[in-house]
Amino acid sequence: MGLFILFEGVEGCGKSTQARALEKRLSKLGVPVIRVKEPGSTSIGRVARKLLKHRLEIEINPVTELLLFAVARSQLVAEIIRPALERDQIVICDRYSESTLAYQGYGRGVDLDTIHTINNIATGGLRPDLIILPDIDVHEGLKRKGAKQSTDRFEREEISFHHRVRQGYLDMSSAEPNRWLILDATQPRKKIGDSIWESIQQHLPIETLRCLDSQGTK
Ligand code: TYD
Repeated sequence: MGLFILFEGVEGCGKSTQARALEKRLSKLGVPVIRVKEPGSTSIGRVARKLLKHRLEIEINPVTELLLFAVARSQLVAEIIRPALERDQIVICDRYSESTLAYQGYGRGVDLDTIHTINNIATGGLRPDLIILPDIDVHEGLKRKGAKQSTDRFEREEISFHHRVRQGYLDMSSAEPNRWLILDATQPRKKIGDSIWESIQQHLPIETLRCLDSQGTK
């Protein structure tokens, strides 16, 4: 099995930038890696994404929202993530089940046990080996995104929603500290990238580490 690395966080925390940087760093070294994004990365996921983010004229019930994210996730796991892990690739995923717990659970108030059940059905129980959480004050994050003029359903939510989402991430990471790496997202981008790189090396398969070592790149 390969390695499953997840990036999570509130709006504007910089996780997608870091996910891309990590993918670039690994592929430059010849490590087989793919990066996917939720919702999206499959044709079903892209349809769900459009509905969920941009069709603001449709009032989406929170449970419907939860199920639409689950539809996208189920297809992504079956079509891309599981096969890649079986080929021993490193999978970098930009949002996954933890986003549903944070946004639909903590944010919208959908029952957390229900979400765990749905997430399990969608993923067949597949969980990430490491979750990277660049953490930032929600005002700061939204400012970075210029969310005020946004046409995105989630960025437009009231500030208290984003506070609950952030609290969700902090609760989940403190319940499973070995699986999560929390970083101060206000640090310089390169410094955050270096901390991620350091932590990744503790998770890389031994053959990959040997290979990096022989290239003098570790
Ligand atoms: P995206 O453009 O991918 O934003 P980001 O750069 O913040 O990841 O938008 C995805 C949005 O969907 C984001 O606001 C979080 C939300 N979301 C959920 O509410 N639940 C979920 O399960 C997932 C995967 C995303």
